[in-house]
Amino acid sequence: MKSIKIIGMGRFLPPKVVTNDDLARTMDTSDEWIRERTGIRERRVVESHIATSDLAAQAIAAACQDAGIEPSQLDGIIVGTCSQDTLFPSTACWVQDKLQIRGMPAFDVMAGCTSFVYGLEVASYWLTAGKAKHIAVCGAEVFSKILNWDDRRTSVLFGDGAGAAIVTQGDGQSGLLSSNWGSDGTLASILVVPAGGTRMPASHATVDERAHTVVMEGSKVFKHAVTAMSTSLLEALAEAGVGPDDIDLFIPHQANLRIMEATRERAKVPLEKVFSVLEKYGNISAASIPVAMCEAREQGLVKDGDVLAMTAFGTGLTWGAAVLRW
Ligand code: ACO
Repeated sequence: MKSIKIIGMGRFLPPKVVTNDDLARTMDTSDEWIRERTGIRERRVVESHIATSDLAAQAIAAACQDAGIEPSQLDGIIVGTCSQDTLFPSTACWVQDKLQIRGMPAFDVMAGCTSFVYGLEVASYWLTAGKAKHIAVCGAEVFSKILNWDDRRTSVLFGDGAGAAIVTQGDGQSGLLSSNWGSDGTLASILVVPAGGTRMPASHATVDERAHTVVMEGSKVFKHAVTAMSTSLLEALAEAGVGPDDIDLFIPHQANLRIMEATRERAKVPLEKVFSVLEKYGNISAASIPVAMCEAREQGLVKDGDVLAMTAFGTGLTWGAAVLRW
C-alpha cells in the first residue's frame, strides 16, 4: 500500500444549467443526438466574471471543512486543470490568493482529464516521502471559456466544475492500493488548444481563426480513450490484487457514456458498480472523477473498507488509474 488516504472531499458546480435543448436553440444539434452519442443531458456553465480558481477555491474549502482542517493547514495545493486562469502564474497560486493562505507550495498539473489522477500520484510520492501531512488535490475546469461555441462537435461535450480531495498519510487499513500513470505525446495533436502558447502566440489571426479554442479529432480520441482507460485500470487492479467483482464503486472519467461503457466491458466490471454524473454535468475534464466521488459519498455509496477504482484519459494523450480502499 502506498500509504495515503483521502480524508475529505468537496465540490463546486456553478449554478447555471445549460440543457441540450438550450444548445439546440443556438446551433444545429438536438437533445436526441447529444444523448444518444454521449449520454449528456445538461452541463453547468460559469458567469463571465468567474475563473477556474474561483471554482477550485470553493471545492478545496469544502474539502478542508469535510476533513476538519483549515485551508491554512494544507502543506501543498495541486490543481489539475487544462483551462487555467492565466498562462502564468499557476491556477493553484490564484487559489491561494482566493483562500488568503500562503507559504505552502502550490502548482498545477496539466494532464487534461487525467489531471486529478496525476495529482493523486504526485501527492502519494510527496506524502510517502514524509514531507507533508495534508495535501489538497483538486480538479477544476472552466471549459465553457475555451470552447468554440460554433463547433457542434466539441461544444456540446464539456462543462464547468471543480472537485477536491484532502489527502494524508494512510494508516495501513485504508488508502491507495495501487496506481499508475502514463502518456503518449505522439498523439498530442488529436486534442489541442492550438494557440496562446509559444507554438502559436496570440495574434489577431489566431483570434480570427478561433485557434484559442478546443480542436479535437473525436473518433481518434474515442478509440484511444477506451484502450488507455481499460489497460491502465486492468494494470492497477492486477497490482492491487483486486478482481473486477471486488470493486464496490467504479468511477471512470466521465467523457462519454459509450467510452465509459466500453471501458467497463473490457475490464469486466459489473454494470451496477459504475457511478456517473455525466448526464447532468457533461465532461468536466479534471473535475469529473473528484466530483463523482464526492457525490457518491453524499449518496451514502462509499463506506469504510469499500474498494474504489478510477481510471482516466485526457489530452496528451495521458492516462492513469488508481484503486483505493476507503
Ligand atoms: N449535433 C448533431 N450532429 C452532430 C453533432 C452535434 N452536436 N456533432 C457532430 N455531428 C454530426 C457530424 O457532423 C456527423 O455528420 P455527417 O455524418 O453528416 O458528417 C455525424 O454527426 C457523426 O459525427 P461523428 O464525429 O462521426 O460522431 P461520433 O459518433 O464519432 O460522435 C463524439 C462524436 C461524441 C465527439 C465522439 O467521437 C466522442 O465522444 N469522442 C471522444 C470525445 C471525448 O471524449 N473527448 C474528451 C477528451 S478528454 C480531455 O482531455 C479534454
